[in-house]
Amino acid sequence: MRFLLTIGVVICTAYTTYAQRTIDPYHYSIEKNIRVAKGAVVSAHPLASEVGAMILEQGGNAVDAAIATQLALAVVYPGAGNIGGGGFLVGHLKNGKNIAIDYREKAPAKASRNMYLDSAGNAITQLSLDGHLAAGVPGTVAGLFASMKYARLPFKKLIAPAIELAAKGYVITAAEARDLNEAKEQFIRLNTAPTAFVREEPWKAGDTLFQPELAHTLALIRDKGAAGFYQGETAANIVAEMKRGNGIITLADLKNYQAKERQAVAFPYKKYTIVTMPLPSSGGICLQQLMGMVENYPIAKWGFHSPEAVQLMIEAERRAYADRANFLGDPDFVKVPVKRLTDKKYLASRMQDFVPGKAGSSEITKAGVFPESEETTHLSIIDAEGNAIAVTTTLNGHYGSRTVVGGSGFLLNNEMDDFSVKPGVPNMYGLVGNEANAIAPHKRMLSSMTPTLVLEKNQVLYSLGTPGGSTIITSVFQTLMNTLEFGLTAEEAINKPKFHHQWLPDQVMVENDFPESTIRALEQMGYKITKRGAIGRSEIIKRDPKTKQLEASGDHRGDDSAAGY
Ligand code: GLY
Repeated sequence: MRFLLTIGVVICTAYTTYAQRTIDPYHYSIEKNIRVAKGAVVSAHPLASEVGAMILEQGGNAVDAAIATQLALAVVYPGAGNIGGGGFLVGHLKNGKNIAIDYREKAPAKASRNMYLDSAGNAITQLSLDGHLAAGVPGTVAGLFASMKYARLPFKKLIAPAIELAAKGYVITAAEARDLNEAKEQFIRLNTAPTAFVREEPWKAGDTLFQPELAHTLALIRDKGAAGFYQGETAANIVAEMKRGNGIITLADLKNYQAKERQAVAFPYKKYTIVTMPLPSSGGICLQQLMGMVENYPIAKWGFHSPEAVQLMIEAERRAYADRANFLGDPDFVKVPVKRLTDKKYLASRMQDFVPGKAGSSEITKAGVFPESEETTHLSIIDAEGNAIAVTTTLNGHYGSRTVVGGSGFLLNNEMDDFSVKPGVPNMYGLVGNEANAIAPHKRMLSSMTPTLVLEKNQVLYSLGTPGGSTIITSVFQTLMNTLEFGLTAEEAINKPKFHHQWLPDQVMVENDFPESTIRALEQMGYKITKRGAIGRSEIIKRDPKTKQLEASGDHRGDDSAAGY
């Protein structure tokens, strides 16, 4: 061990102004909850949050900080931070404009509808999860450059901390050491070249992880822009890696990848406006459906975690996920009836067969009819000018496909598993889909990522989001209900135990510490309850509408940490 890792939890109660910030990759601490006066960043790793806060202090805006934080996460949080994956950025700018940038991965040109089926037509799900063939064409680097339109500082400044962290190394936390050790066999099996993540002896907290190849790739991106990734040496390394491992991404796939600016989903909920991600994320539409389905019930009166409130939310979740499975897919490929799916009358009609005190059934509740490793990571940022950003980004599974591009040092995603590999066959999150999300060349796979902002009187009130695969949407929904309806603090709202229903399988998952009395009441109504570990790892920032002070909180379920000034 080269340096001692200091991991502590510091809860600041006073508003804090930090002295000029330096990033020390060998000594850092986790700050779960901070209150600051100007700008705040919260992400899955303390060093990445520190990088974002440093950029804010140096005069960058929330978009600058989001770019720098994502690049730092690609180094210090390899399980989900990435340049080999994809993501979504949602923002509300001080001029009142909402933005949504889509840098979701795409299916390669050689992808085909039945590429993960055997000759008898059975799904070989491991193929869409492990190794080279599981990877979609990465979108993150294109997304970072698309975001530069709203940034203020030069890209070179934003990428510099990530290059330094990769080249000089940083000490890993106990959680990272555990995760790397658990994935060791897979890293060995799914790689064709040595990777920085595998070594003879087990990793332990305080060890230093060096990533010289990743530092080199980041330097190419710094010097050549997006072409430093999608063309030249890096692209050649990706294609060579594909050839060694029977993957199908080509030079043309990489050169042709483009991020897209989309129109953010924005809908009213009582006195608030919710701003979130449109398709190809299902998150925004499902969140609008969920909130629309519960809006007219006296949920606040029923109370937080009361059987009545939880049951209502479960039944809304059942209906939204049934629609998700049937109707949602890449809007560039399929016609999705977004207006009808989010119409208030339609949402009210979906709840007509809701019976308080009695469990519904996913056999009976189908998609609506009209005359369709849970690893990902989220970061939230609000700056001193009132610009707010929410970014959710992913490799899909933990460490994605677990394949590192030889010579370039970054992990590739396994996002192809987010397509419906065969109608009715569940993906790794147990989600089923159909035609709308079938594989096609160049198509974006459906996502659940739900980076979200809450506005009140056109001023940002919250920036929030979470990883968690299919549980992302229900976690964001619950965090919003916890704050806007049940009056919990931001910190409580993300940390309290969560529950999840996704239509199929017809069961309610609850975190292990979910209140037993509510579980018993739900069982009496006829629900099948399954206990499980953590649901989501949320990040949240609240901006006080009067004082403009910020409260940033990182989820207690991981190394999540806040920084600000
Ligand atoms: N890979 C998780 C999602 O995009 O929903």
